[in-house]
Amino acid sequence: MTIPKDAKIYIAGHTGLVGSALYRKYQKLRYKNILVKSHSELDLTDQRQVETFIDREKPEYIVIAAAKVGGIRANINKPAEFLYDNLMIQNNIIWSALHHNVKKLLYISCGCAYPTRSNQPIKEEYLLTGLPEPTNEGFALAKIAGIKLCEKIFSEYGKNFIACIPTNTYGVGDHFDNERSHVIPALIKRFHRAKTDKLPAVTLWGTGRARREFIYVDDLADAIFLLMGSYDKNELINIGSGEDVSIKDLALLIKDVVGYKGKILFDTTKPDGMLKRILDSSKIQRLGFVPETNFRRGLEKTYFHFLKHVL
Ligand SMILES: NC(=O)c1ccc[n+]([C@@H]2O[C@H](COP(=O)([O-])OP(=O)(O)OC[C@H]3O[C@@H](n4cnc5c(N)ncnc54)[C@H](OP(=O)(O)O)[C@@H]3O)[C@@H](O)[C@H]2O)c1
Repeated sequence: MTIPKDAKIYIAGHTGLVGSALYRKYQKLRYKNILVKSHSELDLTDQRQVETFIDREKPEYIVIAAAKVGGIRANINKPAEFLYDNLMIQNNIIWSALHHNVKKLLYISCGCAYPTRSNQPIKEEYLLTGLPEPTNEGFALAKIAGIKLCEKIFSEYGKNFIACIPTNTYGVGDHFDNERSHVIPALIKRFHRAKTDKLPAVTLWGTGRARREFIYVDDLADAIFLLMGSYDKNELINIGSGEDVSIKDLALLIKDVVGYKGKILFDTTKPDGMLKRILDSSKIQRLGFVPETNFRRGLEKTYFHFLKHVL
């Protein structure tokens, strides 16, 4: 059932990459009662603050796009914080939602919740069939716990609390700082710097053969909107684009979008990581989800965002 336009919907983490796209989507569709609070106004790791906020505001629907997110280095250096903060954020919101009659809640988990050595494409039932990547184990454990808490509440209390796993996301609102950036913003920044500094070549780690899947953030927002309106099953659901690209082809595309004329070199002494990682998104495809953004166009929008808002 589509959520009515005057329903009170709380988007936790509305300033982040995913949350901001979802916020834009609901605003564009003229939802009138979207509830948001910035991190400085409401610290979601603080149980008392969250409880008071949910009790006072009484949202009918909640999407949890708030999380402490970071790159590999941050995850290696602060594993306890990534585990603790994320458990607190999601537990506080989910538990308050349970006790304040929230009609529906969607928890956004992460592909890192799946085992590192998973069969490909990764189906939802592969969760907990192996160990997550050790470098971000703390984060991954929290993201698994969030899925499981929603599942247990759904079966024990009959509440419509569901969880999804999006693939690697990129787009407007991406982070370009070294602590948080993922592969696409990192490459955009490197090629842009190489262009302005007139460097003859950019060297990337690995052979470039590893393949990764990406979804443009507005497409992810469309999928989340779809799930909020019409997915009411106690079953985890993947959100992917269904297409993967080699790191080499990705780098060539970004080089072209940025307009860098130098060479790309690969340092093959460095690891590639998993050779292939792609979600099986057949479940959400059966609900009618088709990502609309052409990959090159999505990269162009991300680069324009970098030029306009980040530099
Ligand atoms: N980006 C991806 O590629 C991707 C892929 C799959 C799944 N996901 C999942 O999607 C979710 C959102 O990711 P994202 O990329 O949008 O992350 P993000 O850009 O870092 O956004 C996280 C949001 O959470 C807020 N936040 C963090 N700690 C908070 C706290 N203690 N209290 C209140 N707000 C807090 C942040 O506010 P501040 O910035 O002000 O701290 C921000 O609004 C995460 O669960 C992530 O695992 C992301």
